[in-house]
Amino acid sequence: MFALDRDITLMEASLIAVADAGIDVRQTLFERFFATYPARRASFISVDAASRRMTDETLQMMFGLAKGEGWVWPLVAELVFTHRNYGALPIAEYDALIDMTVAELGLVAGPAWSPASASAWQQNADALKAMIRKARAEWAIAMPAGAPQAA
Ligand code: HEM
Repeated sequence: MFALDRDITLMEASLIAVADAGIDVRQTLFERFFATYPARRASFISVDAASRRMTDETLQMMFGLAKGEGWVWPLVAELVFTHRNYGALPIAEYDALIDMTVAELGLVAGPAWSPASASAWQQNADALKAMIRKARAEWAIAMPAGAPQAA
């Protein structure tokens, strides 16, 4: 098995383990996120609605990157642009949300989690963080007046 195929298999196994455990990762993820960034809580009209989609899409984007899916880039570009409606979101908060998503997955995945699966997720977490930076930088060039901040 190629290394990339192994990463996809490991990532999928941890997603299945979390689904089988019946635990909603988004609950503790958002608790952790707001504990770290309490001021951000006020940006949300509905944490319940947003946390479902934000958690799902963050996981899908990382898994999509592992599989080399072409839809990830346009989705990230759109995400970064629509998020300008929620205020000036520092890049550190994107990084934190992504890293916390991986950490929460690891806490719930139990025996399906290993150093190899953690590394597979982290590599794609880092790729997603880089893609968000690229999207912010490209919007700043393409649309300086309305673009999300690049930093
Ligand atoms: C890869 C990372 C992220 C993804 C995939 C993502 C995805 C989404 C999606 C799909 C929505 C729409 C939810 C809905 O209308 O049901 C949303 C809303 C929102 N997101 Fe994100 N998001 C991400 C990162 C962030 C970060 C880092 C922040 C804050 C620092 C943030 C703040 C918000 C806010 C404030 C809303 C509006 C929620 C509301 O009105 O209740 N997002 N996000």
